[in-house]
Amino acid sequence: MERRAFVRAGLAAGLTGFSTSATAITIDPVVARRSGPLRLNSNENALGLAPAARRAVIDGITEANRYPRSATGPLAEALAARHGVTPDHIVFGNGSTEIIRIAVSAVAGPRARIVLADPTFEDVFRYAEPFGYTLERVPLTSDYAHDIAAMRQRAYALDGPVLAYICNPNNPTGTLTDCTAIDDWIGSAPENVVFVIDEAYFEYVHSDRYWSSVHWVREKSNVIVVRTFSKIFALAGMRVGYGIAHPETTAKLRAYVTRNTPNHLAGVAALASLEDEAMIPRSLAANQRGRGILTDALDDLGIGRLPSQTNFLMHRVGGDLETYIERMREQDISVGRPFPPMLGYNRVSIGLPDEMERFVSVLRTFHERGWV
Ligand SMILES: Cc1ncc(COP(=O)(O)O)c(C=O)c1O
Repeated sequence: MERRAFVRAGLAAGLTGFSTSATAITIDPVVARRSGPLRLNSNENALGLAPAARRAVIDGITEANRYPRSATGPLAEALAARHGVTPDHIVFGNGSTEIIRIAVSAVAGPRARIVLADPTFEDVFRYAEPFGYTLERVPLTSDYAHDIAAMRQRAYALDGPVLAYICNPNNPTGTLTDCTAIDDWIGSAPENVVFVIDEAYFEYVHSDRYWSSVHWVREKSNVIVVRTFSKIFALAGMRVGYGIAHPETTAKLRAYVTRNTPNHLAGVAALASLEDEAMIPRSLAANQRGRGILTDALDDLGIGRLPSQTNFLMHRVGGDLETYIERMREQDISVGRPFPPMLGYNRVSIGLPDEMERFVSVLRTFHERGWV
């Protein structure tokens, strides 16, 4: 029988339609025993796999000598049903980063440009490097949303292929862009603009200004929605992501994707995670509790922070950011990397409640010494 560590009840209420009040934060027993550095640097989900996913991986090993279609077919069907589309709207990637990479490859061409926020998640411009794209970086607004009006203006001034990357909520800021503005842009954009809407942290958001852009993909072939199993489903090491787009578009994207992705064990783990209805509420409850510990301490210490809608948060750092990161490392805590131009802030991922208690106690000693 599966051994479980019932840690404590979550306190969150009504996020994204999932009730997390009184949801038990059940931690994978292997994760609960693990020691070593505190990893608050990559926005992972510290809960560990859903129990059903762990079982699926162990059972799935008997099929691992076969190519993975027995898992990916049902997974595509389950995802299609979840998003109200047909399976030909789904394209898998080795993590959602691969979907970003293939979108960048597919749109590349002479005079190709990427319009993106500054700062935002770096993968899109890293993948653009070999293609000689021109980057059109548009600073976030004063409330850390994408400046859609400015991005739109920049895109319309260009006549070659344009990839508009919108990370919502945005990494590294954890902040939201109003989906009405995104819808207005998509609804009126010319065909040369291809939208990559990165919804990696979709499930964490609780806001009536936020919804998925999936509703566009039946009618528009220039919209690619990007999702991942790495965050809410805690499968970052398994590498499963997917794009949702018009079948004409997924057919084009598949020309760039590695065949037989995801691998069999990743496929069965993803399917089992989807079917485990307790997984999302548990992840949300743990995140809400951990975030509460962090925000209470930051507010208590008077350290400025951004309002997070995700499993990470940006807070003010006094002095040099690299020094702060190094000092945290000396305490066996990995925090986020620098995200220029926001070099007065550190990004910290939300870990389990006891992990956040540990982080906060180190932060308090830093504050006493005038380091934050
Ligand atoms: C906004 C965003 N998109 C995509 C990714 C890539 O995630 P993965 O390749 O694990 O699905 C990340 C990872 O942190 C992310 O923050």
